Amino acid sequence: MQRVTARAHANIALVKYWGKRDTTLNLPAVGSLSLTLEALSTTTTVAFCPDFERDRIVFEGEGATHTPRIVAFLDRVRRLAGLKMPAEVTTANNFPTGAGLASSASGFAALALAATRAAGLDLEGSALSRLAREGSGSAARSIFGGVVAMHAGDQDDGRDAVAEPVLSPGAWPLAVVIAVTAAGPKAVGSTAGMNRTRDTSPFYPAWVASHADDLDEARRAIAARDLTALGAVTEHSCFKMHGLMLSARPPLLYWNPLTVALVQKVATLRQEGLEAYCTIDAGPQVKVLCRADAAAEIEAILGAEPGVVRVLSSRLGPGAHVVP
Ligand code: PMV
Repeated sequence: MQRVTARAHANIALVKYWGKRDTTLNLPAVGSLSLTLEALSTTTTVAFCPDFERDRIVFEGEGATHTPRIVAFLDRVRRLAGLKMPAEVTTANNFPTGAGLASSASGFAALALAATRAAGLDLEGSALSRLAREGSGSAARSIFGGVVAMHAGDQDDGRDAVAEPVLSPGAWPLAVVIAVTAAGPKAVGSTAGMNRTRDTSPFYPAWVASHADDLDEARRAIAARDLTALGAVTEHSCFKMHGLMLSARPPLLYWNPLTVALVQKVATLRQEGLEAYCTIDAGPQVKVLCRADAAAEIEAILGAEPGVVRVLSSRLGPGAHVVP
């Protein structure tokens, strides 16, 4: 029996993924582009053992439990490795899971690496990204560090729906400041929200059709290390996604009044000369893209806003790795 521990970091999409072309394999309808965050990680240990009666999953510290999804994911790894044994999984996030920050990306990326290695498989890079995607769409991106692009792909088996690294963590000193505006789980989970949007929004075809242009624009901005251009497409993709969500029936409104106040605050900071750009996922937290050397100031400003629960800040971090 081999016990393997792996760590993976959360990521925040600048060009957003919303919508699946296949729900079983988690195949995205659109590509995406994200930053992997050093400060937010999941550490997971996996061991397969014939003596265990069934899969045992232990969440250390405060933890949301995704037990059925984890067992289904372990089944995929067992099929790949030709194993029949149950597994013991111990997993811990170093960031508050109850705070509505996406933990499924770092969680399934760490699980993909630890479980495959514990099962004697040596998946790396895009093969590991493909497997992680089957646990959670955004987890495919957390396999890599720095700036990461996820391909929608067009193959039915998902072999080309994988992420790839675009820039290493040290190549451009960016940071993300996260303002938590409310604790608690999201109102509608992302899979249900995505399917509702695809099935009911008249804007969904336009969202899919206009996505490649946003990705191209972001890639050009990154190649030129142009934060102003990257920030503009980041905010456009975020607000286009939330407009799309609002156009579903019934509508998906993930924001609260403080979310709106912080979006306006960030726009004011920009007018005052502090480069900062908002992005928001399927929840009310506001994530702010900025230069690494501006993060402390932005953290202090957002932390002083009435009602903000807590503020976290992170530079770009590494991809999933085995912890000795
Ligand atoms: O793969 P999921 O279920 O974590 O969905 C991610 C959806 C968004 O966070 C809203 C956007 C994104 O690209 O991360």
